[in-house]
Amino acid sequence: RQSSFAPAEHVVAMLSLDNAFSLDELVAWGERVGKAITDPITYVSEPKMDGLAISLLYDDGRFVRGATRGDGRVGEDVTENVRTIADVPMRLSGDRVPARLEVRGEIYMSHAAFESLNAAQLAAGKPPVINPRNAAAGSLRQKNAAVTAARELSLFCYQLGVVDGGPALDSHHDTLAWLAELGFPVNPVTALHDDLTAVFAECNSLLDRRHALGYDIDGVVVKVDSLAQREELGFTAKAPRWAIAYKFPPEERTTLLRGIKVGIGRTGRATPYADLEPVFVGGVTVSSATLHNEAEVARKDVRPGDTVVVRRAGDVIPEVVGPILAKRPKGLRRWKFPSDCPDCGEPLVRLDDEANHRCLNGECPARQWRQIVYFVSRGAMDIEGVGEERVMLLVDNGLVVDAADLYALTVDQIAALPRLGEKSAEALVANIAGSRDRPVWRVLVALGIKHVGPSAAQALAAEFRSLDAIFAAPLERLEAVEGVGTIIASSLVSWFEVPRNRIFVDKLRAAGVRFDSGADLDVVSDHPPVFDGTTWVLTGSLPSGRTREAASAEIEARAGKVTGSVSKKTTFLLAGDNAGSKLAKAEALGVQVVDESTFEEMLRAEESVKPI
Ligand code: IVH
Repeated sequence: RQSSFAPAEHVVAMLSLDNAFSLDELVAWGERVGKAITDPITYVSEPKMDGLAISLLYDDGRFVRGATRGDGRVGEDVTENVRTIADVPMRLSGDRVPARLEVRGEIYMSHAAFESLNAAQLAAGKPPVINPRNAAAGSLRQKNAAVTAARELSLFCYQLGVVDGGPALDSHHDTLAWLAELGFPVNPVTALHDDLTAVFAECNSLLDRRHALGYDIDGVVVKVDSLAQREELGFTAKAPRWAIAYKFPPEERTTLLRGIKVGIGRTGRATPYADLEPVFVGGVTVSSATLHNEAEVARKDVRPGDTVVVRRAGDVIPEVVGPILAKRPKGLRRWKFPSDCPDCGEPLVRLDDEANHRCLNGECPARQWRQIVYFVSRGAMDIEGVGEERVMLLVDNGLVVDAADLYALTVDQIAALPRLGEKSAEALVANIAGSRDRPVWRVLVALGIKHVGPSAAQALAAEFRSLDAIFAAPLERLEAVEGVGTIIASSLVSWFEVPRNRIFVDKLRAAGVRFDSGADLDVVSDHPPVFDGTTWVLTGSLPSGRTREAASAEIEARAGKVTGSVSKKTTFLLAGDNAGSKLAKAEALGVQVVDESTFEEMLRAEESVKPI
């Protein structure tokens, strides 16, 4: 685990940029600028470097501090690592060196450096780094500066921070020229334009040239050149009005569709997905993508053997856009939904009112595996230390068939499994045992009855107090419970009519799971588990005065998890004022940072919240 770096406060805040996701949005920005400024405007375009922002501080021309952006107010002090980067001047040159100067730019890793890093990683038996941006962030945040030194990082500068002394400057292009004179690398792919049409053309041209640049860019930053005009335009709370980041449309690649497979979910739902020849797109390697259902496959008419277009925008889920018909081999057949379940061989049926096919076999191994995974999940029984892979291991080794079998597992049985030692086996058995006293509503959710989610389960538990009372109640009484209604009530009743479901309930009882843990034991949450599967870290003080405990309780009430330190597993960092190293670390790892107002919006969410 890496140690954290000292906090480094920015004298002038490091702001971010507003985005334009289409050329129309770029034009809209240009119109806003045009309204505020009556004189002719010159624009500058620069590649939007896909690296990480850095602040470089110089006293009397000597490098004294390097800091990451952090939350814009406080970043991480990475001075020693920055010293090892050849592109960063340690002493400034020329005869216009100011007493104090802060320069901002982007640290990035070129494609060439990235490839040689990964070749070295592979040779050393280590996993390759996903993309140059992650490589640059990881390299800059090394604890040992010697490791950073061995990584070839580069720099382009594009902005001034604090300036004390130095020449009078009129424009951005003057600024860049001065930076170059001082010894800073400035991107040569910078251009001046007299109007937005020319800016537009440059954006399109850069989109074409992006792969030939030798480094990753994710758009074009367009700035007003005149510093006087910039001053007139000013800033919003987050970003300057005088600049905008035009983001490229999602990257698309073509690859071979090796096949269309079908995955079976907990409720038996059969979801087709594309089995793809791995392709690197949008910064990651993609080898599968969901196709949702039969109608979607038909609409896209993708056929196994097709060359297909795959797209991934930023952090978004990869998708198959469609086939390239010109490349379709002769005689390729339309794909047909399989008639039988790939996991148990039983027929897949499509109910009249549904878009999906289902495997109705309650004993289907794929369904059982998914059911156990659901049973232990955070929103249900919340058993720590059992994830998809562990459940798979237990099922494959014949140790469990259903979730009730978990309670009979012994330390010896688990410790004998690959990759599991005595210690983790003991912890696992203890966690499972501890779940016997979970409140009734959790047990009810864990049964995985269609439509019975946490809020209905809580309403039922509050009304009936025990699982047995719920199952003994007639439909009319169930549907009369506020927040339950006919659909949920009848789903419950018909679930309990299935003999194997009753057997499962009895098996849980026999395993010692409590069906009547009283209301005093219930940590009743009034909220849907919209944070299920997310891990949060809190830092800084929240502007509203909300305490850390209060924020944690809100997160946990929605089935989220709160931990103390930022890692790759962190989903969100909730950052308040005076956030320090956690923020910088989150940023370096690409963890989404949310402020309190965003957090409040998320608290009102009705559906699962995922990072953007
Ligand atoms: S100018 C006031 N120019 O994009 C903000 N930023 O989305 C001035 N970036 O934090 C930033 N290339 O890390 C600027 N040519 C460029 C850039 C650039 C990449 C990054 C920078 C910034 C982020 C904002």
